[in-house]
Amino acid sequence: MIEIDRRHLQSVYPFGRLNRLLDGVAPGAPGIEVAGHAPGEPVALHIGEPRNQPPAFVAEELTKAAAEWSRYPLPRGTPDYRKACADWLTRRYRLPAAMIDPETMILPVPGTREGLFFTALVTAPADGRAEGRGRGRAAILIPNPCYHVYYAAAAAAGAEPVFVSATRETGFQPDYAALDPALLERTALAYFCTPSNPQGAVADLAQMQDLIRLARGHDFTIAFDECYAEIYTGDPPTGALQAAAALGGGLDNVLAFHSLSKRSSAPGLRCGFAVGDPQRIAALDVILATGGAGVPRPVLAAGTRLWREEAHVTANRARYQENFAIAERVLGNRYNFRKPAGGFFLWLDVGDGEAAALALWREAGIRVLPGAYMCQSADGEENPGAPYIRIALIYDAAFTEAALRRVVEVL
Ligand SMILES: Cc1ncc(COP(=O)(O)O)c(C=O)c1O
Repeated sequence: MIEIDRRHLQSVYPFGRLNRLLDGVAPGAPGIEVAGHAPGEPVALHIGEPRNQPPAFVAEELTKAAAEWSRYPLPRGTPDYRKACADWLTRRYRLPAAMIDPETMILPVPGTREGLFFTALVTAPADGRAEGRGRGRAAILIPNPCYHVYYAAAAAAGAEPVFVSATRETGFQPDYAALDPALLERTALAYFCTPSNPQGAVADLAQMQDLIRLARGHDFTIAFDECYAEIYTGDPPTGALQAAAALGGGLDNVLAFHSLSKRSSAPGLRCGFAVGDPQRIAALDVILATGGAGVPRPVLAAGTRLWREEAHVTANRARYQENFAIAERVLGNRYNFRKPAGGFFLWLDVGDGEAAALALWREAGIRVLPGAYMCQSADGEENPGAPYIRIALIYDAAFTEAALRRVVEVL
């Protein structure tokens, strides 16, 4: 068992670990000669922060609604925002017209991060016991590797984080159905990310239907993190709501999370939403209204327009697709590279991820994330992320190409 409680969070925070690895090591010169980039400046490929700008109309909408800054955010946001989210979901996932009720099924959240975090607090019982599920502590299922907020949330909720392997052998997604039924009985919540961070794996319709069936069968909440849903290299990834629709329509046990951070390159806007089962949405609403920041009204005005506009999303996706084409050209089949179905990361098997991260920093001033920092391992077990590094393809094409060429040179 891997125990992570609140006191350990600092020591497992991936970017803190990276800082500790590289602290005191002088960065080498990247030697990247690309217009607009200072040649000696370190290169940040470790973090998934988009480098292009959201559409200019965001600033216009914020200015138009500026009188609203003096007001507190509304817990459920504006009807217009909820409707824009429901309409987008219906278009994007080709859902039956009346499936999503914007009043009861949509809740604005600053980002998927906040929604995912607070979901653990509302689904795991406060005393950590899985009431009504037999004896034992409430469990939260987490893919391994994963976005660190899932286990931070489990720790904050006092639940047992159960890390489920999402490696090449399992198609880079966790196989929750293979877990011991006794564990599933005390499961309060399962996180599932598609397209996944870091591997970019996309679950298909049958997999997602099976997951929803499993959650309903054992009565746990399944939280689908779909923040990369709009960044893909082939067909648009299937969504949880499509799977729910195919199963017969209701959203029982299901929550899905979306935001404008990746879709519109606007992580600083802090604008997203949760969609799902009205009961779970109501519970999330109460805790977010109590301990969350809410989404300011001017931000909702800008967000409403962003969910209604697709041209900038298409252009954004094309940038990432171009970067993946560059990665294919530059990397070939080195490091077991394969173009992922979605997301914007490279998950490269370099043999020893920490050593590679250190070498890239020391020799070329390039910061990448060792895969081990996104994975957990029990004492004495090998960390499944140890051979990997994660690289975020967030720069423009010319810079991405130059940076990847340097990565190959150094490694
Ligand atoms: C897998 C995953 N989920 C959620 C988030 C949080 O994104 P946001 O809160 O900006 O929507 C991120 C951010 O990088 C992520 O990689």
